[in-house]
Amino acid sequence: MKEYYKTEFGSIYHADSLDYMKTLTDGVVNLIMTSPPFGLVRKKDYGNVEAHSYLEWFRPFAGQFQRILKDDGSLVIDIGGAWIAGQPTRSLYHYELMVMLCREYGFHLAQEFFWWNPSKLPTPAEWVNIRRIRVKDAVNCVWWLSKTPWPKASNRRILIPYSDSMRELLKNGYKAKLRPSGHDISEKFARDNGASIPPNLIAIANTESNSSYLVKCKDAGIKPHPARFPVDLPEYFIRMLSDKGDFVFDPFGGSCVTGEAAEKLHRQWACVELEEEYIKGGTFRFPVNPTHRKTPTYSLSHPAALWNGVENEEPLPIDGGKKRPQEEVKNKKEEIKKEQGNASGQLNLYD
Ligand SMILES: C[S@@+](CC[C@H](N)C(=O)[O-])C[C@H]1O[C@@H](n2cnc3c(N)ncnc32)[C@H](O)[C@@H]1O
Repeated sequence: MKEYYKTEFGSIYHADSLDYMKTLTDGVVNLIMTSPPFGLVRKKDYGNVEAHSYLEWFRPFAGQFQRILKDDGSLVIDIGGAWIAGQPTRSLYHYELMVMLCREYGFHLAQEFFWWNPSKLPTPAEWVNIRRIRVKDAVNCVWWLSKTPWPKASNRRILIPYSDSMRELLKNGYKAKLRPSGHDISEKFARDNGASIPPNLIAIANTESNSSYLVKCKDAGIKPHPARFPVDLPEYFIRMLSDKGDFVFDPFGGSCVTGEAAEKLHRQWACVELEEEYIKGGTFRFPVNPTHRKTPTYSLSHPAALWNGVENEEPLPIDGGKKRPQEEVKNKKEEIKKEQGNASGQLNLYD
């Protein structure tokens, strides 16, 4: 096993993380923050495991995670869903993984989070753009699991600014009343605590385009990792679930985004990755830029805000979209040709 790169707080290992974990004694890790290869139906070039064999593949990792975590530690898994090949339905693999980790390996589901990527493109085009029978899939599930029901955690580390309506309410005061839901909202609701507790929907656009990581990869002729998460995602969980000096571990290190976040937050860390090229790129993240902070906000439209009333409804396709609308296919191909300068328009619309 090779310690490939070392920083003030952590190390990147070029290894199989199953081998690396065997070198750790029981209960040394405070937080496992990771994004495993997703169980995509078609294999991608970074070694995705096919959905049906996913659980079997994951088992040895699950056993090690359980062993190396401290009793008050957490396991946070960012995992994307997958479409079943050739039909507009979803694989259950990521839910099955969460259930397996809880039922068979004794983890507790501390909370489920959803990472919404507002910049996600509408795919698969076949179901979303052509047949118009599904909406775009723009969230990843993030399973926060723990070894006991009481992992160390504090939402005070991840507070967000009050919304405009809450600020208004604080300014004008709030009259205590019973909500239609039966919740008794007391006067305390209008107390200014300085910030708001966030929901379990995390909005981060994954739009890295000119980061120093990408620029340096390009200069070095290295292919950037194709499935990176944004640094704000591990940063959020590391802040909430670990203290300075704690040990944060990413067994599927990729381009070492977890390491970047942990280094910034002065946690000890280790990222382990199989592919040397991804590690080489990952080293470009160091030394970290500790002051970097963006605070964009995103808004969601009210559901079906453009709905025009029953009179204007078009009938739904009676076959559930089974027959391909030829006109839409033609238009889509033209669009692809124009946008991508792709002479044939042969994009796989099912991806
Ligand atoms: C979804 S990617 C992680 C991306 C990473 N979070 C980032 O933002 O760059 C999963 C990674 O796990 C790596 N991987 C798969 N099996 C592994 C193993 N047994 N040990 C170490 N790394 C592994 C793959 O090579 C891939 O780079």
